[in-house]
Amino acid sequence: MKVLEIMGEQELTGSLRVSGAKNSAVALIPAALLADDDVTICNVPDITDIDSLTEILESLGAKVKRASESIIVDPKPISNKEIPESLAKKLRASYYFMGALLGKYKKVTMYFPGGCSIGERPIDLHLKGFEALGAHVTNDKNKYTVEAEKLIGTNIYLDIASVGATINIMLAAVKAEGVTEIDNAAKEPEIVNVATLLNNMGAKITGAGTSTIKITGVEELHGCFHEVIPDRIEAGTYLIIGALCGKNLKIDNIIPEHLDSLISKLQEIGADLDVGVDYIIVNKEESYKPTNIKTLVYPGFPTDLQQPFTVLLTQCSGKSKVTETIWENRFMHLPYLQAMGAEISLKGQSATILGPIELIGTRVKATDLRAGAAMVAAGLIASGKTTITNVEHILRGYEQIVEKLSSVGAKIESKEI
Ligand code: EPZ
Repeated sequence: MKVLEIMGEQELTGSLRVSGAKNSAVALIPAALLADDDVTICNVPDITDIDSLTEILESLGAKVKRASESIIVDPKPISNKEIPESLAKKLRASYYFMGALLGKYKKVTMYFPGGCSIGERPIDLHLKGFEALGAHVTNDKNKYTVEAEKLIGTNIYLDIASVGATINIMLAAVKAEGVTEIDNAAKEPEIVNVATLLNNMGAKITGAGTSTIKITGVEELHGCFHEVIPDRIEAGTYLIIGALCGKNLKIDNIIPEHLDSLISKLQEIGADLDVGVDYIIVNKEESYKPTNIKTLVYPGFPTDLQQPFTVLLTQCSGKSKVTETIWENRFMHLPYLQAMGAEISLKGQSATILGPIELIGTRVKATDLRAGAAMVAAGLIASGKTTITNVEHILRGYEQIVEKLSSVGAKIESKEI
């Protein structure tokens, strides 16, 4: 079994470069099949989720070329519109193939997607959007077939500002007849990155990044060149690590505006941040004030950072609170932080953290992607050795995390035990 071993209490100094955003790349790659010619996407992170998506594209018949941080998708040979369960289950983002295949071929068959066990993770809003566009959805024991004679633009109100549903409906609507308006759309930067790709292909999308997105259907979508935005969640994770044990730690290649909520919370507890145009330099402070965070849709505090941020709250002098409003099961890291000595209690969807407390290294588990990131952050400040199991969760979303942290002085290594 692969594990990560960390010897804690090292001061991290130097520069870390943030990779392309996982939650953008995993939508851009399925979206590429909407084009009638080659689509080149650069700054793609080298993580296992991308490997899974490449496998799905090739199972459909597309040609895919990977070269360092770029991927070239040739959708012309696509002949198959059915995604086997074994592939669909590998990641949540496989569901973007529903919107893309429906949008281009008016038919798709695939299984309920996979993803971290942080909640039930339904796709009812995605399917509601497809049906609103005129598609017929059948579900045979989690095998979904979505097909339409034709797709007609319409107004779609999202009960929840869902990232996935917003993107998936955009993918299905770009070649529909007429105009589609998505109301209460999610506003995450990754959605803007996908809309920009589609517009580069010749789509007509306005309003991405606001709660009302308008898509005017077009007949043709041509190939293009596009770039993945920097990963704000990877950047935020390393900023939190810098506040825990950094000395002049520079987090490079970021878009600070995408991290406004985290930056303001870090400043609120007294973090020492030098915010540049595309970087942030962070220094560990001797003490931090407590604070409360509540996860919200963008631009609120991101749910994907509440787990790593909780580790920082264990070092704040006083009582802090974390309220999770997006996912119903995103506190699986708490028992492992408690095993390391953290004083945390959980009541419903709110965790109360008392600090500062010294964490002690022990054997812990990465229960999901961002819980795994929290275990890494905790291991970096804990005394002694921390061994993290189930590291495949972490490697799905953090490109070269061992190499990046080692390059700034962390004593971290990947081992087979
Ligand atoms: C995306 O998931 C991200 N994943 C998640 O990041 C992130 O936590 C989430 O957005 C919120 O920001 C990817 O982009 C691949 P949602 P997504 O649809 O699209 C409910 C990570 O760590 N909902 O915005 O699946 C849902 O249950 C991952 O990188 C429905 O009820 O999230 C949740 O409570 C974890 N019905 C809420 O909406 C639906 O049809 C938000 O989900 C869809 C969603």
